Amino acid sequence: MRKYIIKTYGCQMNEHDSERMSYMLQNLDYTETDSYDDADLIIYNTCIIRKNAELKVYGHLGAMKALKKKNPQLIIAVCGCMMQIKEAREVIREKYKHVDIVFGTKNLSSLPYLLNQFHIAHERIIDVEETDDIDELQNAIRKNKHSAYVNIVYGCDNFCSYCIVPYTRGRENSRSNKSILTEIRSLGIQGYKEITLLGQNVNSYGKDMYPPMSFSELLRQIETIGSVDRIRFLTSHPKDLGEDLIDAMRDLDKVCNHIHLPLQSGSNRILKKMNRKYTIEEYTEKVDKLKSKIPGIAITTDIIIGFPGETEEDFEQTLDAIRKIRYDQVFIFKYSKRVGTGAAKMKDQVDEDIKSRRFQQILDLVNDICYENNSEYLGRIEKVLIEGKSKNDPDKLTGRTESNKIVHLNADDSIIGSIVDVEITGFSSFTLEGKVAK
Ligand code: SAH
Ligand code: SF4
Ligand code: F3S
Repeated sequence: MRKYIIKTYGCQMNEHDSERMSYMLQNLDYTETDSYDDADLIIYNTCIIRKNAELKVYGHLGAMKALKKKNPQLIIAVCGCMMQIKEAREVIREKYKHVDIVFGTKNLSSLPYLLNQFHIAHERIIDVEETDDIDELQNAIRKNKHSAYVNIVYGCDNFCSYCIVPYTRGRENSRSNKSILTEIRSLGIQGYKEITLLGQNVNSYGKDMYPPMSFSELLRQIETIGSVDRIRFLTSHPKDLGEDLIDAMRDLDKVCNHIHLPLQSGSNRILKKMNRKYTIEEYTEKVDKLKSKIPGIAITTDIIIGFPGETEEDFEQTLDAIRKIRYDQVFIFKYSKRVGTGAAKMKDQVDEDIKSRRFQQILDLVNDICYENNSEYLGRIEKVLIEGKSKNDPDKLTGRTESNKIVHLNADDSIIGSIVDVEITGFSSFTLEGKVAK
């Protein structure tokens, strides 16, 4: 039997694309391995969101040259967001001649065909499509056996000035609710307790459909599927977060009380240059509504520091917003210039050492706030979906609360995969500790 490795970089969308490729490969009688020496096929599913993501891929690919020399039969394929960008594709074409197959995010399901072609001709294949048709082949072999990703909308039409995603994933394109519901029903039958709906901007789900349909309506339809207990979604764009979604989150039992709502910056001047289409006042008003209608809701966010032209005053406004909103988690990114985006041409790029200093300042603030937020969980009983053994301590199990907090606990393996009442007995800035409640 032939063996494969898929190395995945980037976001949940890429993780799920890799799960779909696993399904295709296992259908071709490939089995998964974690040993590079044993592999007959290595696929790099790449990300280009920031420079670091790109450099990692080049680093790993470079190291594969020696392996390919040792094992000339080895097939190396590169796919994902990097391959949708011409400049990056050219680097692979010119400098990484040991790469055999290149494909993109739009023709994932051609993988079996491309492999077959390669086996016949033994010639390098570069095949990247530009279509926006939905690839309805959704079968996947999922890494997590209790919580499943489900695509609901592809692409992005927002063109935030720093972001390359609209160029790598194309225009917004919603999957039909029928096909989403069918997939979720089948996941329920297979025993999945939780599903996470995926889209770059789930809030605009269905706007491109005829007749149009709202994301909150989709949630209401999914709520009726008996066998699934928890519904999550990623990511929400603040400009498209309507009152109807807040009400649906409040009314629907299965929709978890957590929202990831990327703020990016607390300065209106910078938000405008970022093309985010909301002000800090509008954002805060929505957060206030979420907090008042859904008590205990956890709110998490993304912040970019050092966007071109960001002054000390702009940065202070971001700190202020974080202090006021008191996020449950903040993912902080140093601005990274991406080819072809609007912000790449902007003057006043911020020095790296200023970015590093601001990064540390936010991190310190966020750690304090998260510590205080988590302290409020002490003594509470929380419903926790037990996902498996803890990675850092194999004697412990790990799971998540509805609010998406990670909980570690000592308990019998037999509870893996179920939702149990857990008493919270300890906490840090990042995780909770607990024990099964009596
Ligand atoms: N569609 C999602 C985000 C996808 S990218 C959304 O709009 O919320 C995830 C995060 O990466 C973004 O929220 C942003 O904070 C960050 N990011 C995107 N482009 C970046 C860049 N050029 N430099 C630094 N961070 C960036
Ligand atoms: Fe990028 Fe903005 Fe689209 Fe998110 S909404 S993927 S940040 S362009
Ligand atoms: Fe995701 Fe990276 Fe592509 S964040 S959408 S894998 S550029």
